Amino acid sequence: MSATPKCTTRDYREQRDAHDIHWRLPGPFYHMPVIKKIGVLTGGGDAPGLNAVIRAVVKTATNAGVTVIGLEDSFDGLIYPEKSRVLTPADVRDILRRGGTILGTVNRGDPFAEPIATPLGTFNYADRAIETFEQMEMDALVCIGGDGTLAISYEFFKRGIPLVGVPKTIDNDIVGTTSCFGFDTAVSFATDAIDRLHTTAEAHRRIIVVEVMGRYAGWIALHGGVAGGADVILIPEIPYDLDKVVECVRRRDDHGARFSIVVVAEGARPLDGVRSVVQAAETGHVERLGGAAKHVADELERLTEKETRYVVLGHLQRGGDPTAFDRTLATRFGGKAVELILRGQFGRMVANAPPELVAVPLGDVVGKTKLVPLDYDLLQTARMMGVSFGD
Ligand code: F6P
Repeated sequence: MSATPKCTTRDYREQRDAHDIHWRLPGPFYHMPVIKKIGVLTGGGDAPGLNAVIRAVVKTATNAGVTVIGLEDSFDGLIYPEKSRVLTPADVRDILRRGGTILGTVNRGDPFAEPIATPLGTFNYADRAIETFEQMEMDALVCIGGDGTLAISYEFFKRGIPLVGVPKTIDNDIVGTTSCFGFDTAVSFATDAIDRLHTTAEAHRRIIVVEVMGRYAGWIALHGGVAGGADVILIPEIPYDLDKVVECVRRRDDHGARFSIVVVAEGARPLDGVRSVVQAAETGHVERLGGAAKHVADELERLTEKETRYVVLGHLQRGGDPTAFDRTLATRFGGKAVELILRGQFGRMVANAPPELVAVPLGDVVGKTKLVPLDYDLLQTARMMGVSFGD
């Protein structure tokens, strides 16, 4: 094991010396830096389980003698002095089962894009955050977030802030980890919605199109669609041909089913077209997807002359209480993040690699998207069972 924290930029060394991070005597974290105070933040779109991570971080860190500072609204907690507070075990009581995040979050693309104006003046975002980190005498950060937040975290790490990332997303699209908390809850909700839509679709002999989230990955659509027994699943990884979907609907009609459930991922696109976007990307903001279900429903109604309805599950997939699976995964992630910090293993992301949790370098993770592999067994099995992917 290395005796030196991985983060060795000049800033960090200065900060480390200034704040008297010294070396422990032999013990459980032999030759590891002593950590006295850490910050925790949540960034990007919320996901059920964020509070469970915060709770695990606060409880494990406090039990190790480390003070935890909760930073509100992602890295804004390092910009505005009033957006940070000490978190004790009493502050995280009863939050295990709650969705959302007690720290608040922002889903704001690139914070480095422009200077920020505060009541105290206009600052370069990164400089201001690093300065505050040092002034608050924190030794490390736990940054809980998706691809965007992890990319920002990596930037801060490269600029000298010792930190550990915790992957969060309902989309399940972060590379390096087999799963993220939030995904199971989103899939469970989508499955329940599809179950409900089955009965009404059957009663009216309609096609019902259900749009689920996932951005450029089809994990929620595939898992929710299979669990809910959808007839058609359209995912971003497989551009669809609506004629193939129509064939599937007609086949079902011929066999007497006379209704069909079509699950479409928000990022799915037709073979000869583009994905549906409601708001294009602009400085500091990623593009907003939406409209896929309406497009598919309109076209299917035209092509099949069957009554067709569509439902957009939207943010319902992100709300509500986390499932037991997500609570336990989130708790494991929180504990592992604190362990990595105590071991001085900065610049890493906690990752699920069953049966273990591992630490993967943030540099191997950022800027990439984990898509559904076309040879994924669930996809193959669904095909073998007659589910159409519109190809
Ligand atoms: O990345 C999570 C996610 O929920 C996506 O599935 C979705 O496209 C996006 O966030 C929605 O973001 P917002 O909450 O900013 O509308």
